[in-house]
Amino acid sequence: MAPQRTGGRGVSAPLEIAVALGARRYPIRIGAGLLDQPASWRDAIGGPQALVVSNAAVAPHYLPRVCAALRDVACATVILPDGEAHKTLDSAVRVFDALAAMPANRDATVIALGGGVIGDIAGFAAACWMRGIACVQVPTTLLAMVDSSVGGKTGVNLPQGKNLIGAFHQPRAVVIDTDTLATLPARELRAGFAEVVKYGAIGDATFFAWLEAHAEALLARDAALLAQAIATSCRHKAAIVARDETEQGERALLNFGHTFGHALETCAGYGTLRHGEAVAIGMCLAARLSAALGRAPAADAERLAALLRRFGLPTEPPAGIAADALLSTMRIDKKNRAGRLRLILWRGVGRAEIADGVDAAAVRDVLG
Ligand code: NAD
Ligand code: GLY
Repeated sequence: MAPQRTGGRGVSAPLEIAVALGARRYPIRIGAGLLDQPASWRDAIGGPQALVVSNAAVAPHYLPRVCAALRDVACATVILPDGEAHKTLDSAVRVFDALAAMPANRDATVIALGGGVIGDIAGFAAACWMRGIACVQVPTTLLAMVDSSVGGKTGVNLPQGKNLIGAFHQPRAVVIDTDTLATLPARELRAGFAEVVKYGAIGDATFFAWLEAHAEALLARDAALLAQAIATSCRHKAAIVARDETEQGERALLNFGHTFGHALETCAGYGTLRHGEAVAIGMCLAARLSAALGRAPAADAERLAALLRRFGLPTEPPAGIAADALLSTMRIDKKNRAGRLRLILWRGVGRAEIADGVDAAAVRDVLG
């Protein structure tokens, strides 16, 4: 399952997972050293122009290698400020300004080089520029590799809530160089495991047990295990997106813990909690709520919290965030219908479900 190393400068033949959307499809290519192997992804940039969008934390490590691979393309760059607090319309405008300065035509490609923040902004800018140009996602965080780079959700935050402005815009390709995880700070690696655990929690009890068996080795960045965790996560995401591209149903399950998590991120102040940390807490709250509503065993909620703790993730909301503020922020979540709370709850490890009209008083109780 892990990509095969072929020797040389850490370069390996990529593993390819297809995201099939009816007649359309695009590849997720996963391998160690892919950025040094442009032949394995250069085909995704079709036109003569590209804009690489990155930030000051990522660009010094990886931008020169991406630009070197694009020697035959008119390649511009834009470096955005780092962090969730900058996932804003202002940052998208900076990308539009860079596209205008090129000037970029409809056959230009936007390349998102960074974590989920860069991927979401760059993807959104690509969706809007001239009503939509190609985007290639080059994720450099674990979280972006296993979740945000795949599936075409793009967007920016408002002070009122996360991801309230956005578009579905599928990438032309996702290029995952697992070697980029070597420079990822430990807190960001831990945050990524929240979304990995999510796939086990919502639909794959066997994967959940595999994560229980390997948590410490994964945290220690065992390369083969990490590649396996990334590939399994991408396969799950690709399968769900293929069945429900625009979240008419099943795709909402990927938001297990996210309504709580997004409210926590908004109320704590963007960037205070990492997205993965907020999702970890949110999944625990959703599991506890499911138990309180008699839908799931309380023991499974504790099993989930125990695994997340082993990945160094928080499982309780931070002190100082008012439960009422969280609840009112949860009311402007995109999943709600007719003013009623719509949450992803579960029956236990491996079995998530959509719950409509969830009792606000029960939600308020788990918020403390
Ligand atoms: P992030 O993009 O802020 O990256 C985390 C930190 O790591 C940043 O400081 C970044 O500069 C740094 N970094 C990234 N790669 C690095 C590397 N290889 N070496 C050193 N530093 C590196 O956060 P994230 O956790 O990747 O993404 C979170 C965002 O993704 C949130 O905005 C969330 O809403 C979004 N998201 C979107 C989707 C989707 O489907 N579109 C899914 C999940 C999450
Ligand atoms: N991260 C949730 C989704 O892509 O649907």
